[in-house]
Amino acid sequence: MPASDFAKADLSEVVEQLTTDEAILLTAGVGFWHTHAIARLGIPAIKVSDGPNGIRGNHFFMSTPAKCLPSATAMAATFDTALMERVGLELLAEEAKLKAASVLLGPTCNTQRNPLGGRSFESFSEDPHLAGMMAAAYCKGLQEGGIGACIKHFCGNDKENDRFGYDSIMSERALREIYAMPFMLAEKYAKPWCFMTAYNRVNGTHVSENPHILQDILRKEWGSDTTTMSDWFGIYSIDHSINAGLDLEMPGTNKWRTLDLMNRSIQSRKITKRTVKERARKVLQLVQRCAKGAPEILDGEGIERTGDLQAGRDIMTRLASQAIVLLKNEGGVLPLKPKEQGLKKVAIVGGNAKAVVLSGGGSAALKPSYFISPHEGIASALGKIDPNVEITYSEGARAYMQMPTLENELLTEDGKPGWTGLFYSHENDDSMVPLDKPLKTVYIDETRIFLSTDYPKELTKRFTLRLRGQLKPREHDCEYEFGLLSAGRARLFVDDKLVIDNWTKQRRGDAFFNSGSQEERGIVSLKAGVSYSVHVEYCNVRAPADIDPDEAVMDSNGGVRLGGAEVQHPDDLMASAVKLAQEADAVIAVVGLNADWETEGYDRTTLDLPGRTDELVRKVAAANKRTIVVTESGSSITMPWADEVPAIVHAWYLGNSTGDALGEVLTGKVNPSGRLSLSFPKRLEDVPSHGHFHSEHGQVRYAEDLFVGYKWYHHRKIEPQWHFGHGLSYTTFEFSDLSLSKPAFSNGDVSLTASVKVTNTGSVIGTDVVQLYVSYPTTSKLTHPPLMLKAFAKVFDLAPGKSEVVKVALDKYAVSYWEDRISRWVVDDGEYVVRVGRSSAPEALSLSATFNIEKRFEWNGL
Ligand code: BGC
Repeated sequence: MPASDFAKADLSEVVEQLTTDEAILLTAGVGFWHTHAIARLGIPAIKVSDGPNGIRGNHFFMSTPAKCLPSATAMAATFDTALMERVGLELLAEEAKLKAASVLLGPTCNTQRNPLGGRSFESFSEDPHLAGMMAAAYCKGLQEGGIGACIKHFCGNDKENDRFGYDSIMSERALREIYAMPFMLAEKYAKPWCFMTAYNRVNGTHVSENPHILQDILRKEWGSDTTTMSDWFGIYSIDHSINAGLDLEMPGTNKWRTLDLMNRSIQSRKITKRTVKERARKVLQLVQRCAKGAPEILDGEGIERTGDLQAGRDIMTRLASQAIVLLKNEGGVLPLKPKEQGLKKVAIVGGNAKAVVLSGGGSAALKPSYFISPHEGIASALGKIDPNVEITYSEGARAYMQMPTLENELLTEDGKPGWTGLFYSHENDDSMVPLDKPLKTVYIDETRIFLSTDYPKELTKRFTLRLRGQLKPREHDCEYEFGLLSAGRARLFVDDKLVIDNWTKQRRGDAFFNSGSQEERGIVSLKAGVSYSVHVEYCNVRAPADIDPDEAVMDSNGGVRLGGAEVQHPDDLMASAVKLAQEADAVIAVVGLNADWETEGYDRTTLDLPGRTDELVRKVAAANKRTIVVTESGSSITMPWADEVPAIVHAWYLGNSTGDALGEVLTGKVNPSGRLSLSFPKRLEDVPSHGHFHSEHGQVRYAEDLFVGYKWYHHRKIEPQWHFGHGLSYTTFEFSDLSLSKPAFSNGDVSLTASVKVTNTGSVIGTDVVQLYVSYPTTSKLTHPPLMLKAFAKVFDLAPGKSEVVKVALDKYAVSYWEDRISRWVVDDGEYVVRVGRSSAPEALSLSATFNIEKRFEWNGL
């Protein structure tokens, strides 16, 4: 019978028939990505997959190429929930089907408490309303397409260092009004099929064992019937997590919920059979939703595929171009008009111009089915307008943290890009000696090899991977620098000479989800026209400071990464960029971070751009008045040169279509309408959580309380570099005629409508975002943030001189705060001020109006 027949099963009957052992098996995964199947009862397994900016599929190593969407911060910058929903339905659900996955591990909905957070790029916004509305739209679209959303990481998981252990210590108000709010809004409007618990503790207890969060809030208050799933290796007990309400332990390797331990916990009355069955029932409910949602996945062969149709590319480019934020544009430097502006030569400089930067790192990263670099996209867009424009290029200043990977620099013996991998078993499981003959030989088109569990299962516990490639001949003699890091031991030989030893000694690092070593570097001299053999020997055994044969095998996070680049003197690089800037009619500096700087596993240590990037921007700007800076980062960075350049465009991480989208915006084919989804401070010290962001012996104090993001900058009257919600256009807009309807009360809720007239007062067609902020009555005995975003709307393609009246609805969420003493939401009576404008900057909120709530009321639930 087809697996999808489970859609018709009577869940109560199935649960009734489950033996205790079967119920136990259902409460934990199988392997990395599957749930347990029980053939006897027709229960199929389902597959889950990361998430959130695309679907990677089962494998970290040699994964199936996929569509990489812009980072969540970029998607939120569209302020366009309808587009987000469409992306969920048309893009993500379709990609999930191609990857044979029934549940997408996304969206990520944590909060940019501090832009240093390694995964800030993965979450939508510092503002709970924007984050929640985008998350709801994402889940809604995806689930309409039959694929389950697994919203994550619920909650208070706002940093990476010490992520399994730290305790997010926050007031109940901050928990409710800021950190749980995006999840609450998603639950209200979209009912995600799964919630993934956070790794960390909140107020003393790990979330996966936290009855307050999993029972009191999620189940009782919100009335959610979702399935809860642990983050990977993110449960730390049997009875606590079972009793607190964690339905599914993931993954199914190294698990706690084994038959033995669970049965013993039942015998010792730490848990009951009844609770185990309740947890199993929730897992079955998820399986059934998947069977109903996309039966073709369960009945299919489970093969992963890549889809690359023009329609998919078009929506990717639209999403990416809508996300781009024009921060500054003095003297109409943008859009670029080669003929009118007399641009014959345009210099593109910067470490990110040609680099493959499309997403942050960690579980969100995936192998793109195509990638258009900024250089390619901008050159092609300019070329379409004027084929005679000459483009020059210099890297100017290096921006990478680890040497760039070498898949396009190495060739296999038969001339394919990449190298060949030979897997060897050892004499026995504990031996360090590989056998003479390889067990398996594979073609590998990547030099960052995160093996995880993707190696031949027949290998001995300890095994060796030998990687063999040829370095493409250079056009000139040069010094070439290699970088090698590994989770396990590795060494590099070039033409059989040992160049890097990361084997006998190793420095612990953070790569490969904190299992890797630091990158070791080595330089070789290369002659022009000669191809050199590049061999890496890897063994999946941890390398200690000195070799110890008893060191543990890297059973789930093993990996090796080889990078390299020609040695260039930094002063020469800088000088060449400055020279090109002097000779050009305009300069586009593409600078920023990448997936090594912003990643899962560790936090950033600075908001500065890498290396000598700031100096590069300043120098090219001094050399050429028409310098446009394009910044790429998933979260905020500092821009100490902001006053010295006429134009700045923030491009986040834009996924596969990065270059196409940038080309369209810089040349004016698309009029930018992105708005910052988070504040950009002038300096790290201005960030609200500065000084209490790091884990101090496991404690992270959320001392800024409700004043997260722009709320802090307002409250403390600190001028950020760029305000939350800021973003310019190639046209100008005027807002007028703000009016509010009288609040209406029914069913414990309030509703009113705000309307505002938006007029395009400029000379080109454009799209604008109306932002509505609310200030609570000053009569309250409590402190509230001065302004809180409570509604937004987008006006599309308004022609010059034309107006449109925009209406947005407000409800109890626009006026409520959490009242600790009674554990309820409260709406005070008094006068509320509504302020409307084009950004959160107080001076940009040009319109205001007030409304009154006559009678205080309380509520609970959603
Ligand atoms: C991440 C999750 C991810 C999971 C599976 C964890 O390390 O925190 O977001 O879904 O791995 O890859």
